[in-house]
Amino acid sequence: MSAPNKEYDPVEVSALDPAAIDAALSAAVAAIAAASDLDELKAVRIAHAGDRSALALANREIGALPPAAKAEAGQRVGKARGLLKKALEERQVQLEEDRDVRVLVAEAVDVTLPVDRAQVGARHPLSTISERLADVFVAMGYEVAEGPEIEAEWFNFDALNIAPDHPARTMQDTFFVESPDSGVVLRTHTSPVQIRALLERDLPVYVVCPGRVFRTDELDATHTPVFHQIEALVVDEGITMADLKGTLDHLAASVFGEGLVTRLRPSYFPFTEPSAELDLQCFACRGASVNNPDAPCRTCSSEGWIEWGGCGMVNPRVLEACGVDSERYSGFAFGMGLERTLMFRHDITDMRDMVEGDIRFSAAFGMEG
Ligand code: PHE
Repeated sequence: MSAPNKEYDPVEVSALDPAAIDAALSAAVAAIAAASDLDELKAVRIAHAGDRSALALANREIGALPPAAKAEAGQRVGKARGLLKKALEERQVQLEEDRDVRVLVAEAVDVTLPVDRAQVGARHPLSTISERLADVFVAMGYEVAEGPEIEAEWFNFDALNIAPDHPARTMQDTFFVESPDSGVVLRTHTSPVQIRALLERDLPVYVVCPGRVFRTDELDATHTPVFHQIEALVVDEGITMADLKGTLDHLAASVFGEGLVTRLRPSYFPFTEPSAELDLQCFACRGASVNNPDAPCRTCSSEGWIEWGGCGMVNPRVLEACGVDSERYSGFAFGMGLERTLMFRHDITDMRDMVEGDIRFSAAFGMEG
């Protein structure tokens, strides 16, 4: 800032020279017009309207003028600054509009275009759980065995010691192919694969058989006429029920969590002796909900155990039917439903979800292997 000059001499205060102010204003206006985007305009604003711009300096000089000159100089500089401010504002609005138009064009999305992204599919969770269970056995050295879904009655019943008058043989449970005396059925369980495995293989036999089975049940929340089981059969020398129990506990821990055990309850199957119902310790509460109204468990209905399948020591009559020396060999077998296993593992409450083929159900399981 110049030193105060007592007598006003406009020549001495060059910043306030009217021609200089006009020149500063027209230079600023030209620069504003030349700014082609918002960044350039920002630079123009700093150069022509910033603290060090010619007009800002002139404004500051006013204070040093004698009172008589202040008004005129103030008016001139103020007008110039006002015009500059207006020009900046107008250009700012204009350049923002230009930018918005450019962005709209550049980022336009045609929402009516067809989607060309391929939908990623999902595996059905029954396939996944079937393989998950079978893998546990393969890791123990078992082979995976398969058998036909359309099965001879002899394999499905007779060879398994299910007498002709056994209730399971009536029309109520069994789908017959053609007529009831055709001797051909849709297999009602995976146990006929036990017979095929014993007839086809050399001893010892360690097999696991996952597969589809059929029973004449109505489809509802807890039944389906087409469902899946997984069966295991071991026939070797010296096999005892302790081997069965150890295998089941290993399976339970592998699929549902470390330390989880199974429980056997006396039961009856014609093809095993002794036979047992197989329960799985509830993996959700591990028994903590039993007699504990404060902490009820949905998964096991506060029972602590979940019915999982059937098992037992292979009935010597079955071994003999397959030509196995039942004095020398013994074995165990067990089987369980895959739908049930999946239902309590994933808290699925309606069995129909698993069979109706709505991909929204399986998609939730993704591609887990
Ligand atoms: N096959 C029996 C069923 O479907 C289950 C089972 C398998 C029982 C093996 C004992 C041994 O109910």
